[in-house]
Amino acid sequence: MKVLVTGANGQLGYDVVKELQKQNIVCCGATRKDFDIVDFEATEKFITNYMPDVVIHCAAYTAVDKAEDEQGLCCLVNASATENIAQICKKINAKMVYISTDYVFDGTKDGFYEIDDKPNPINVYGRTKLLGEQEVQKILNKYFIVRISWVFGKHGNNFVKTMLKLGKERKELNVVADQYGSPTYTADLAPLLIEMIKTDKYGIYHATNEDVCSWAEFAEEIFKLAEMNVKVNHITTDEYPTKAKRPLNSRLSKEKLDKYFHNLPFWEISLEKFIKINEQ
Ligand SMILES: NC(=O)c1ccc[n+]([C@@H]2O[C@H](COP(=O)([O-])OP(=O)(O)OC[C@H]3O[C@@H](n4cnc5c(N)ncnc54)[C@H](OP(=O)(O)O)[C@@H]3O)[C@@H](O)[C@H]2O)c1
Repeated sequence: MKVLVTGANGQLGYDVVKELQKQNIVCCGATRKDFDIVDFEATEKFITNYMPDVVIHCAAYTAVDKAEDEQGLCCLVNASATENIAQICKKINAKMVYISTDYVFDGTKDGFYEIDDKPNPINVYGRTKLLGEQEVQKILNKYFIVRISWVFGKHGNNFVKTMLKLGKERKELNVVADQYGSPTYTADLAPLLIEMIKTDKYGIYHATNEDVCSWAEFAEEIFKLAEMNVKVNHITTDEYPTKAKRPLNSRLSKEKLDKYFHNLPFWEISLEKFIKINEQ
């Protein structure tokens, strides 16, 4: 099996390539230097030259607030480039993994979102990621759409790293306490994605770590595990206005993941591992 990973310099792409290498799977981690995914010809040339059996598409426009001002670019990267990559996968008969997001939902549901609940994104980023999902579904049969949320990993910037940095500078922080979801640790997700691509159990999956929290609870656990004495003041979304609206409820049901594969560890356990590694 030969695997091509896009966005190999990003949080998830980096760990996916590392895991493929660890498992001795032939792979190519492509970055923006290899090809810009919005350059459709360059993308096609690179991928058809490499002829992978699987493309794990981790590259994306991920700046959620900035996207409100850069709708065109965000759509080009998340929707049009994904469509292009799906067409290329069809042409070379490759499986495709498309990483998607909890932000395809509006967050108004009471309870966990099932994979077939109707998406209704409330920001530009979510709308473009949903368009990407729809293109993949339209073009391919052999696809995995994997929705994740609140991503943290060793490579790149994320909430955990931001909290650890701010915690060194301040004694107390205001953190939103009325948005609920589940963190996703890239080092847990990467082996699961590789397990998926070895099968033909195609379709949409939700794949975050287990257990739910608010951002404020996530921050408190970070400071507890890092043994930092920082007070977390619980504030509401209204008290922390951002350019892009965010869903209040990002709870994703992992019933299908558990049925066909297995659930990921509880986020608290993975966070502890991450903080230990980060301290080294
Ligand atoms: N981060 C989250 O909390 C979160 C939550 C839910 C879902 N997701 C999804 O999970 C996936 C991985 O996210 P992540 O956190 O690993 O993202 P990330 O760290 O922002 O990495 C994204 C990568 O995509 C690359 N990229 C962006 N535009 C490109 C272009 N035009 N051509 C080539 N490469 C381009 C970036 O390259 P440069 O470094 O050169 O810019 C970057 O390396 C994405 O599909 C994202 O939508 C993320």
